[in-house]
Amino acid sequence: MRKAILTVVWLALAAMPGMALSQSIIIKFPHDLAPTTPKGQGADYFKQLVEERLPGRVTVEVYPSSSLINDQASLEALAFGEIQMIAISLSKLDRLTKRFQVFDLPFLFADMEQVEAFQNGAVGQELLRELEGRGLLGLTYWHNGTKQLTAGTPLRVPADADGLEFRIMDSDVLLEQIRAIGGNPQKMPFSEVYQALQMGAVDAQENTWSNIYASKFYEVQEFITETNHGYIGYFVAVNPDHWRGLPEDVRNVLEQSLAEATQFVNTTAVAINDEARADIVASGRNTLIALTPDEREQWRAAMRPVWDMFADDIGAEVLEAAGAAGH
Ligand code: LMR
Repeated sequence: MRKAILTVVWLALAAMPGMALSQSIIIKFPHDLAPTTPKGQGADYFKQLVEERLPGRVTVEVYPSSSLINDQASLEALAFGEIQMIAISLSKLDRLTKRFQVFDLPFLFADMEQVEAFQNGAVGQELLRELEGRGLLGLTYWHNGTKQLTAGTPLRVPADADGLEFRIMDSDVLLEQIRAIGGNPQKMPFSEVYQALQMGAVDAQENTWSNIYASKFYEVQEFITETNHGYIGYFVAVNPDHWRGLPEDVRNVLEQSLAEATQFVNTTAVAINDEARADIVASGRNTLIALTPDEREQWRAAMRPVWDMFADDIGAEVLEAAGAAGH
C-alpha cells in the first residue's frame, strides 16, 4: 500500500514541469558550429565548468552543428523559453535591431584589439542589454575571427566578384557589401551552406578560417582570398526571465563559469583560426590568394560606401565608440 502511494506521488511529481525529482536545472545551449571551433570549444568548456561546480544541480546540454535548431530559429526559441542559451553571430541580430550592424561594416575594425576595446567599453556593454525587451539578454561577447572570401574562381580584385552568387548571413549590411562588389547576395542559414556550395546553388561565401575548415567549405571552394575584411563574433545570450528566475547561488556560478569560458574563447580564437588556416594549407586542395596593399585597397574602396548607407540606423554614438576604440 505504502509503495503504491509513493508510486502515485512520484508519478504526479514527475509529470509537473519544473518539479522533477532530481531538481536538476537544464540549460539547452544549441549552436551552429562544430565542437572544434572557438564557439564550439567555448560552449563545451562552459558546460564542463558548470557541471563540475554544480554537480546534479545544473546540466548544460550543448547541441553543436545545428543539431537541435538552426541559428535563425534559435532567436525565437530563446525568447519563448524553449532553449536557455545561445551564442549567435552578431550579424544575425540585424532583423531585431539596427545598432549591431556596426559589427558588419567592412574594414571598420583594424584588428581584434579594436573589436575588444569597443565591446568592453560603455557602448558595447550597453548593446548587450539592447534586446532584453525582446526576450534576449546578452551576457557577453565571444570572438571567432576575421572573414576571408572563398569561391570556385579566383577573387583577386572586386571586379572578379561580378555576377557571382554569394551566400551571406542574415544581415542587410552584408547584402549591400556584396552588391557593392557586383555580387548577388543570398541570405542562408549556416547549416545549408556546405550543400549550397557543393551543388553550385551559390558560387562564393565569406567566413573565418575556423568555419571554412571545420565545416569543410575548403573542400568545395578552391580559392580563398585573404581579405580579413570583416569580423565574426557572437552575442552570448539567455532568456531574461529564466535567468532571473534561477536561484542566486546557481546564477552566480553560471556567471563566473561564463566569464572563464569567455576568457578562454577570446584568448584562443586567433590561435584556433591560425591552426585552421595551416590545416587548409596542409590539405593542398586550395589556392590561397594573398592581396597586395593595392589590391586590398581596391576591396576596401569598393565596400566602403556601405558605411554611409547604414550610419543613421546604427547611430552616431555607436559608430563613434567603435571608431574611437581603434586609438
Ligand atoms: C555563418 O553563418 O556564416 C557564421 O555566423 C556561423 C557562425 O556561427 O560563426
